[in-house]
Amino acid sequence: MTIISPNELVRAVAALREGQLVAFPTETVYGLGADAANETAVRRIFAAKGRPADHPLIVHLPDVAALNDWARNIPPLAWQLAARFWPGPLTMILPKALHVPDVVTGGQQSIGLRIPDHPVAGALLRAFNGGIAAPSANRFGRISPTLAEHVQAELGDAVALIIDGGPCRVGLESSIVDLTGEQPVLLRPGHVSASQIAEVLGMPMAQSQRSTTRAPGMLASHYAPLTTTRIVDSDALLPAIEALLRQELRVAVLARQAAAIEDPRVFWQPAAHDPERYAHDLYAYLRQLDALQYDRILVEAVPESDAWLAVYDRLRRAAYTAPGHD
Ligand code: TXA
Ligand code: MG
Repeated sequence: MTIISPNELVRAVAALREGQLVAFPTETVYGLGADAANETAVRRIFAAKGRPADHPLIVHLPDVAALNDWARNIPPLAWQLAARFWPGPLTMILPKALHVPDVVTGGQQSIGLRIPDHPVAGALLRAFNGGIAAPSANRFGRISPTLAEHVQAELGDAVALIIDGGPCRVGLESSIVDLTGEQPVLLRPGHVSASQIAEVLGMPMAQSQRSTTRAPGMLASHYAPLTTTRIVDSDALLPAIEALLRQELRVAVLARQAAAIEDPRVFWQPAAHDPERYAHDLYAYLRQLDALQYDRILVEAVPESDAWLAVYDRLRRAAYTAPGHD
């Protein structure tokens, strides 16, 4: 387990207090952190990411008691979910406390909150003793970072400090559940599954209608490599590769099935059969395949079951192209 040195912790807290950005590891992905109570600092997050101002941030908390500082009219269900899943990869959307700066919530009356389950994030939050606003530490629309090196490559110039906590355990962003309406809604699937949340709630959860772009993770194209990426059914994978080779194109493949072709124009990245392992590796693999700068990335389709839902969702966004474009 990576433990942050007292020295680095002091530097990180000082940077946050000065309104600077600090990238830090969580169990899901690396976050780009700023003092959530400092509007100038929070604006720096949007500038560094190139993120539109109306896309709200998640505020990370040191402990459950802090929930009262950032949210109001907190329903009993929220306390139940907190007791069951925090610290952990679940974000709750609640009515925001009145003092929360608009810049944090993209002008909305609600706020996203979570307590991350990572020793470094926990130590940082407790030492800072406040809320840290932190989106994933990547440029807007791109792949979330699961290694400190990813943050360095993409945002190194914009941050005061990157705390290296090694690879993120989960590898995909937190599950997001909206508790501001009559019925809880799953806005973003993640490691905490829909059925696990529904079990605590004692009621089924509505799936998001995807009619709103309140959550950037809900834009159709997100978490995307620059290389054109396609999802292909298992049976269709080999024919699809052969068709691309006939067009003289080079193909990077991410597949659970074993490499089925030997060709210098094909790079084959074997993927895990287990959904948790697959999720853990996914973003690092997508970055590696993207860095090859081949003509296409082909990803073997994954099941649509509850266990694979978060992976399925991220792959769909990585492979999204606007209608009419290839
Ligand atoms: O695992 C995670 O959640 C990571 C780590 C760093 O904690 N953070 C993360 O942040 O993924 P970000 O900004 O990349 O994604 C946060 C999502 C966005 O889709 C955002 O719009 C949504 O949470 N969100 C935040 N506040 C919201 C609100 N009030 N209403 C609806 N969606 C909200
Ligand atoms: Mg993000």
